[in-house]
Amino acid sequence: MPAPATILIFDSGVGGLTVFREVATARPDARYVYVADDAGFPYGNKPEAELIARIVAVVGEAIASHKPDLVVIACNTASVLALAQLRAAYSVPFVGTVPAIKPACAHSKSKRIAVLGTQATVSREYTRKLITEFAHDCNVVLVGSPKLATYAELELAGTPASDSDIKSEIAPCFGEGPPEHYTDTIVLACTHYPLLVQRFRAVAAWPVDWLDPAPAIARRVADLMRERPPGDTTERPSIFFTSGKVPPRALAGALVQFGF
Ligand code: DGL
Repeated sequence: MPAPATILIFDSGVGGLTVFREVATARPDARYVYVADDAGFPYGNKPEAELIARIVAVVGEAIASHKPDLVVIACNTASVLALAQLRAAYSVPFVGTVPAIKPACAHSKSKRIAVLGTQATVSREYTRKLITEFAHDCNVVLVGSPKLATYAELELAGTPASDSDIKSEIAPCFGEGPPEHYTDTIVLACTHYPLLVQRFRAVAAWPVDWLDPAPAIARRVADLMRERPPGDTTERPSIFFTSGKVPPRALAGALVQFGF
C-alpha cells in the first residue's frame, strides 16, 4: 500500500479538534499532526500585525518539522487574517476555515442570522466582504466574543464556565427576539465553539440552528486529496503544544477521546 499522506491541522488551541475529527473521518487513512499554538492563545484579541507574523512563523516551523502534504488552518481568526500570507510563503496546499455566511443565509428562513466569532474574526475586512458578497437577502448580526474560546478550553480541561457566563456571551446573537424576523441560524465562526454547542443550546433565548463548518472543511480536504490513493497507516495522530507544556490530566483524557 502507498505511504499515507500527512495532514497538518493548526489552531491556537484545542478548537481545531472539532475540525480534525471531521477531517479524520473523511480521510482515516492519513497521518495526522495537530499543532496547537497555546503559547499564543488566545488569538482573538491580539493585534493584527503581531498575529500575522506569529502565525506565519509557527506554521512555517510546523511545515519544516512535519513535511505535510496539506495544511488545514482550523482557526477562523488565523484564516481570515493570514491565509493569503501563508499561501504566499509556503507552497503546500492550505485549507482555511472562514465564517460560513453563505450557507447560513441559504439555510435561514427568517433571513436573520448571527455570526459568533472572536473579536478579531468579526472585525476583519475578510468577514465583511463575505457579508457583502453572500448576504444580499439576509440581515447579519456580527457578535465578537472576548471569552468563549477560553470557556471552550476550560470545558475540555474539565473546569466549565457557568451557564450565566455563557449566556451573556451569546445573548447579543438573539437581539430583540420574536416574533418578527428573529435570528434562526447562528454561525459558529470560531472552531472552539462547537465544543460548547450543547451549553449554547441549553441557555439559548430560543431554539436556533448552530452552523458548524467542520463537515464542509472535511469535504474540501477530501476533494483536494481525491487523487491520492488510500495510505496505509495504523499510526495514532500526534499533538504538539507550542508552550511545550504537558496537558493537564482532564485535557489528556479528552484528547484520548479524540483519538490522540
Ligand atoms: N479557534 C480560533 C478560531 O477559530 C481562535 C480562538 C482564539 O485563539 O481566540 O477563531
